[in-house]
Amino acid sequence: METKMAGEGQKSKGWFWWVLVTVIAVLVIVAVALTILKDFHSKAAKVHHSPVEQKYADALGIAMQFFDVQKSGQLVNNRISWRGDSGLMDGSGEGLDLSKGMYDAGDSMKFSFPMAFTATMLSWAILEYGDQMDAVKQLRNAQDSLKWITDYLINAHPSPNVLYIQVGDPDLDHECWQRPESMTLQRPLTQVNTSYPGTEVAAETAAAMASASLVFKKINSTYSSLLLMHAQQLFAFADTYRGSYSVTAPSEQRFYNSSGYGDELLWAASWLYLASADRSYLRYATIDHGQEFGNWRRPTWISWNNKLPGVQVLLSRVDFFGASEVPITENLALQMYRETAEMMMCSLLPDSPTATSSRTESGLIWVTEWNSLLHPVGSAFLAILYSDYMLTSGTEALFCSERSYTPGNLRDFAISQVDYVLGENPMKLSYLVGFGENYPQYVHHRGSSIPADATTGCKDGFKWLNSSAPNPNVAVGALVGGPFRNETYSDSRNNSMQGEPSTYNSALLVGVLSGLVTSSSVANSFL
Ligand SMILES: *[C@@H]1O[C@H](CO)[C@@H](O)[C@H](O)[C@H]1NC(C)=O
Ligand SMILES: *[C@@H]1O[C@H](CO)[C@@H](O)[C@H](O)[C@H]1NC(C)=O
Ligand SMILES: *[C@@H]1O[C@H](CO)[C@@H](O)[C@H](O)[C@H]1NC(C)=O
Ligand SMILES: *[C@@H]1O[C@H](CO)[C@@H](O)[C@H](O)[C@H]1NC(C)=O
Ligand SMILES: *[C@@H]1O[C@H](CO)[C@@H](O)[C@H](O)[C@H]1NC(C)=O
Ligand SMILES: *[C@@H]1O[C@H](CO)[C@@H](O)[C@H](O)[C@H]1NC(C)=O
Repeated sequence: METKMAGEGQKSKGWFWWVLVTVIAVLVIVAVALTILKDFHSKAAKVHHSPVEQKYADALGIAMQFFDVQKSGQLVNNRISWRGDSGLMDGSGEGLDLSKGMYDAGDSMKFSFPMAFTATMLSWAILEYGDQMDAVKQLRNAQDSLKWITDYLINAHPSPNVLYIQVGDPDLDHECWQRPESMTLQRPLTQVNTSYPGTEVAAETAAAMASASLVFKKINSTYSSLLLMHAQQLFAFADTYRGSYSVTAPSEQRFYNSSGYGDELLWAASWLYLASADRSYLRYATIDHGQEFGNWRRPTWISWNNKLPGVQVLLSRVDFFGASEVPITENLALQMYRETAEMMMCSLLPDSPTATSSRTESGLIWVTEWNSLLHPVGSAFLAILYSDYMLTSGTEALFCSERSYTPGNLRDFAISQVDYVLGENPMKLSYLVGFGENYPQYVHHRGSSIPADATTGCKDGFKWLNSSAPNPNVAVGALVGGPFRNETYSDSRNNSMQGEPSTYNSALLVGVLSGLVTSSSVANSFL
């Protein structure tokens, strides 16, 4: 009885407790769900609605379109109303399909050296910030643009020791002012081979293909392996048959002159190590040739000609995230790269004791009169990468002569350069065409300057260069050359020094904008 009562009592008490527990549980679940939802909304707001980040997302969507503006070949899903098919017969004289790829700048030349650099930088941006690109619906565009270049590079490499590096004759090309769609000129090809080598162009092409093989690994493993195979062959070709392509093809000297190939060899080896996990490439870039080509402890400026700052930051990445897998001797060389990368970061930070004086009065990194935005935008991309490597690895401080800086300081530097480009400058001008209210109207770009329905020959097309009316077509996403050191800009169509955009400028801008879209951490490994 007692037991029964107790049992009943327990039963009825148990019932009460169950109801109470259930009610509490439901309340807790609702509360947690509300918190998560709220958190989700504020995160979503951070990505999509916060004014500052929306600005970078908008700028990224615009910058990405410049790759579509520059495409050669039979266009697919063309987003640029005034562009059409062009260069369809490129390569056909030699039995090759070199119709794809991108025009480098305002003309109709296809130069592989800067085109491959564009692809390498775009790959790097996708590998680090693909998630952020995806969050603002730009990942597919980035992958498509990258593949447009790598498809061309694959076809330009018909046998292990032959690489076609140029389509078109720059002297003839510059005598005409025509849209690529109405080109009538011969399109001669230039190749490098064992008797006329081109180490830097072959190595940069190897870097582009190795980095792209990582991008496409999960998308199409056949394509990814194909890229890796080409990259390995090209690296062997570049390294075995050493010689500068500027010597082989002297006409390049007036356009994309190379000051040496050591940087491209290290750059290609570094990307090949990441893409293949083959230690011999790491050995190449560190103990075998690091001392010889690495220019350790002497920071320089990133450009289509100088990849050393890229090597320093990329191999710092290996040091930040993968050092435990690296043998001690290689590791010592990685330290030298990282030390040099940090010296570079210290020179970029505006109030560091070792800050560079290559800056305009309002703080834009400024190194050269021609295409002045190349260096600030490239440096900003490297700074945001370094900042995120520090953040992700839990590295709190960077020391510049005893003063310490945080990842946030590097991010602020990157933001300062990007904000300048987007209009916070004395001219109140956005140097990114299509962004904001006030951007250049006379960009030095043939397709942009000639109405899509005009019929022009080679010479009479110059009337469109001479015209005083603004460009009829917006070269959306073009990042023009940029301001003078005194922060002035002359918006005039024949001002190619300041007003000519390029695909590599856009790739660097896309990289830094992708890093700024949301606050970031990066993956420890690309694999
Ligand atoms: C090797 O390249 C040079 C320079 O482009 C070219 O003149 C030469 O014809 C090429 N050699 C062969 C065998 O095609
Ligand atoms: C994957 O890449 C290979 C090699 O380029 C190509 O033949 C194939 O069609 C691609 N597959 C898909 C699903 O796109
Ligand atoms: C191209 O670069 C090489 C190596 O730095 C240099 O010797 C040559 O003078 C340069 N050519 C031009 C036209 O600037
Ligand atoms: C464009 O201007 C240049 C320089 O003033 C002149 O030589 C040329 O004839 C002009 N061309 C056309 C097609 O108007
Ligand atoms: C700014 O610099 C450019 C190039 O050095 C020069 O031509 C121009 O006159 C300068 N403008 C002013 C306002 O100082
Ligand atoms: C454009 O500039 C180039 C060199 O800067 C010059 O040779 C050419 O005559 C100029 N053309 C016109 C139309 O002003």
